[in-house]
This record gives sequence, structure tokens and C-alpha cells, in this order.
Amino acid sequence: MKLTIDDVRSRFIKHFDGTTGSVYASPGRINLIGEHTDYNNGYVFPGAVEQGIIAEIKPNGTRNVRAYSIDLKDYTEFSLDDDKGPSASWARYIYGVCREMMALDVPVQGFNTAFAGDVPLGAGMSSSAALESTFAFALNDLFGDNKIEKMELARVGQRTEHKYVGVNCGIMDQAISVLGKKGSLLRLDCRSGEYEYFPWNPKGYQLVLVNSQVKHTLAGSPYNERRLACERTAAVIAKKHPEVKSLRDANYEMLEEVKPEITDEEYRRSRYVIGEIDRVLKVCDALQKDDYETVGQMMYETHYGLSKEYEVSCEELDFLNDIAKEEGVTGSRIMGGGFGGCTINLIADELVANFKKVVSKKFEAKYGKKPILIDVVIGDGSRKLC
Ligand code: GLA
Repeated sequence: MKLTIDDVRSRFIKHFDGTTGSVYASPGRINLIGEHTDYNNGYVFPGAVEQGIIAEIKPNGTRNVRAYSIDLKDYTEFSLDDDKGPSASWARYIYGVCREMMALDVPVQGFNTAFAGDVPLGAGMSSSAALESTFAFALNDLFGDNKIEKMELARVGQRTEHKYVGVNCGIMDQAISVLGKKGSLLRLDCRSGEYEYFPWNPKGYQLVLVNSQVKHTLAGSPYNERRLACERTAAVIAKKHPEVKSLRDANYEMLEEVKPEITDEEYRRSRYVIGEIDRVLKVCDALQKDDYETVGQMMYETHYGLSKEYEVSCEELDFLNDIAKEEGVTGSRIMGGGFGGCTINLIADELVANFKKVVSKKFEAKYGKKPILIDVVIGDGSRKLC
């Protein structure tokens, strides 16, 4: 069921002093293609979804933040001036955003907040970026005269992940959560920060997510190790080619040249990334020609790379990908960081109903539970609702 302002407002009123504040929202995301390319300074091609986080926020005239998570039924209070911050993991996102906004000289004051979300947790749809972006956007509006530009708000969320959560993520999730636009995908160059909107209006096709319900968590996962493997390879290449600052600047020939000096694992990880950066550009070109067959083929290539070279898949996701192939789905792949979560599927309209039926039946027969199917609707980025 779709989350509404009233779901949040009624709890805000109940948990605090009966008054209301301002309400903000930020979305989760899908990513058509460009996985694990952001922290390698490559391209990504995400879109915001309709699901997200809604938070009601009201300054309380103190230095304390009083926060209530409606979904977890958990309350916490922390001081903006405390160097350690709260221990509850959900509250660390809010604390991190406050501290990073303060570091940008935004005069953040204490506030009361209640929030809820309808992005499935651990599905690879960036529920945590939605939370960070909601608060970064809101604090900029409430205390900062909206002086911080949107891309910097995204970086506030990213630094929160790095410094307060321990995930050395790239910029994709926070950028699309802040910058998302209804009906459009965003091609973001993660090196320059430049971006372009591409209308997403596939004629005769739909995007459907299949959530394996294998919960992925990037904290403490091999996500950070993947990033290190890429950075080590780029550093080895840079000894011979000083212009190479990241894998974005590298090509297959350079990688072959350093193959004897890197591990087999680093070689495979880097090969995937170099190919994936190129695939994003190919998909953008194909989209402009309404060539969905090429888009889909690239998605399958990405899945193969994520599964066999980058090794961030799992049995359930590979199984979902196999079913998609058998059922004639145009494109299918793991979406997001991997290690669980969803596949994203590009399906011809006339095959959608049957695919949904078959994938549910086969997945349940094998793993004892139905996957969750989500029809993708591309929605707006961070905004004030009232
Ligand atoms: C997670 C990270 C992103 C990105 C993806 C993989 O969602 O937060 O920065 O690296 O994984 O593409």
C-alpha cells in the first residue's frame, strides 16, 4: 500500500506535542544499467521510484534531535553536539546527515521528527539513500535557506554512509534520490558530476522488479572489498599510464598489460567494470533509437559480469535470471550492490502477465516463498510535500 502524508502526520502528532511541522519525501531508486561503476568514476543510469521515505520535521528549540521510526516503532534522542551519536543503526543515518550539514556551516537546530518508508528494506532499492536525502533536503530547507546545491546534498548522504555507517559507496543512490524526475532516467557521469535526463517511455515494454527477499546489507559485506580491488588495479595501471586516475580512464589493453602484476580476482573485477562503463553509454544510445533489444542484451551481459566476474550474485538471483531468459524476457539482471535483493526485468507488454505467474510459481517451488513483484513507475526526487 502506498505510504501517505497522513500515515506519518498522525504518528508525529501522537508522539510529540500535538502540533504539526513540515513534511518532506525522497525516493528509492532503480538502476537500468551501470552497476559498481559509480565509485570507479564511470557512468550510471538510474531512475527514482514512487516508493520512498516521508518525514515530518519540526524545530524544537533545543540542541536535541528526537526521532521516531514509525516502521520500527523505535524512538531515540541525541544531541547535535555529541561526537559519538546514537547507536541505533537507523538513527545514525539522521545523525550523520545532521553532522555533515553542520560541517557545511548549515546552522542546524534540534528538531522532532517521525518518519516511515515504503521502499522494501535490503532489496537493493536504496532505502538508506532515501532516508539520507530526505533529511539533507529538509535541513537545507529548514535551516540553510536552501543554499546547498542538490549534488552537494547527495554528497552529504554519501559521506554519512562512509563515516557513520561504514559503507564506502559511490554517489549513485543519493544523487538519483535528490535529483530524480518523474518519467525520466538520469545518466550521471560520476567523474565530472554532469548529468542528463532521458525520458523513460518505453513503447511496448515495462520494467518489473523481482525481489528475491534475500536480504542484502552492504555494511560489513564484501562491497568495500570490491571497491578496493578496483582501486588497486587502477593504481597498478597508473604506474605505466599516469593519466589513469580510476578504472574509468582504463581500457582492456591496459588491463591486459598489468595482468601479471595483479591477482586473478582483481583482473576479473576490473574487466567487469571496464565493460560495464561502456555498456551504460551503449544503452543510452540504444534507448534514443527505441532499440530495446540492445538494451536488454546489455542487461544480460551485466548480469553475467556481476555473477561470474564481480561475484556479487547469489543462487536465488541467478535462478531468477535463468527464468527470465527461458520466458523470453528482453533484459534481466541483478540490480544494485548485489548479495541479494532484486532483479530488474525489461519485459515486452504481452509477456508481463505470464512472466509474473511463472516466476512466482517456480521460485516458490524451489525456495518455499513467493518473490515480491514490483511494477516500476519512475517518480520524483527529494521534495517538500507540505
Ligand atoms: C550500492 C551503492 C552504490 C553503487 C551500487 C552498485 O547501491 O550504494 O553507490 O555502488 O551499490 O552499483
